[in-house]
Amino acid sequence: MKKTVSIMTAGMLLLGLTACSGNTAALSPAVSESSESKETQAIETGSGNDEPSVQTTVMESEESVQDTTAGTGKDVLVVYFSATGTTKGVAEMIADITDGDLYEIRPAQEYTEADLNWNDPDSRSTKEQDDKSARPEIGSDPVSFDGYTTIYIGYPIWWGEEPRIMDTFVEAHDFSGITVIPFCTSSSSGIGRSGTNLAENAGSGNWLEGQRFGAGASVDDLESWISGLQ
Ligand SMILES: Cc1cc2nc3c(=O)[nH]c(=O)nc-3n(C[C@H](O)[C@H](O)[C@H](O)COP(=O)(O)O)c2cc1C
Repeated sequence: MKKTVSIMTAGMLLLGLTACSGNTAALSPAVSESSESKETQAIETGSGNDEPSVQTTVMESEESVQDTTAGTGKDVLVVYFSATGTTKGVAEMIADITDGDLYEIRPAQEYTEADLNWNDPDSRSTKEQDDKSARPEIGSDPVSFDGYTTIYIGYPIWWGEEPRIMDTFVEAHDFSGITVIPFCTSSSSGIGRSGTNLAENAGSGNWLEGQRFGAGASVDDLESWISGLQ
């Protein structure tokens, strides 16, 4: 396991350098990304014991980011969870483009650098991702979907899937009558089954095929994707 995890780290870091943004991934791929991610990435590269270059969790308390209230007159909401800031950047660009409101899913217990260490089989993130029933508690103020007709929902890929806190969120909300558009960021993995998992766990809403972006996603990339949705 340790060897596999170390190799996965090297694979992600290596592939992250070459990852293109805007890869399209099917909502319901035939192959489960969860099993593919650990095993496929294990053969991407042959060595690597480096520590992951994961930075301390970015959890700014910007009032503007969390200032999401029904009645703003906007019909687009961009919901996101971001442990190290990449998904946050993409979410902010989507909100700018769509003139949407932003809502950040913040964990009740923030993820530390140690929590995010995928080299450690006992780290919090590894244990959560190994347990499909894990539902980390959300600490941000509740959000109402009143008035919103479209919700973009974003997250980083962890071990080929959505972080379990995303399941906590979708299971706690009613998406009925809302078009829901998943997006994710990753070093190299596709969106895999994460959008499908979220749709199934939500149990309501009109979920569209999601999209994966790399750390270098640009406004042009996002505008092109969003215009293709309409
Ligand atoms: C615990 C953990 C697991 C990860 N697993 C994968 C993975 O399976 N595939 C991948 O391409 N990237 C993986 N990554 C990298 C993140 O998906 C990527 O850095 C993402 O853009 C981070 O988004 P954020 O800054 O919004 O948290 C993982 C990162 C962490 C912390």
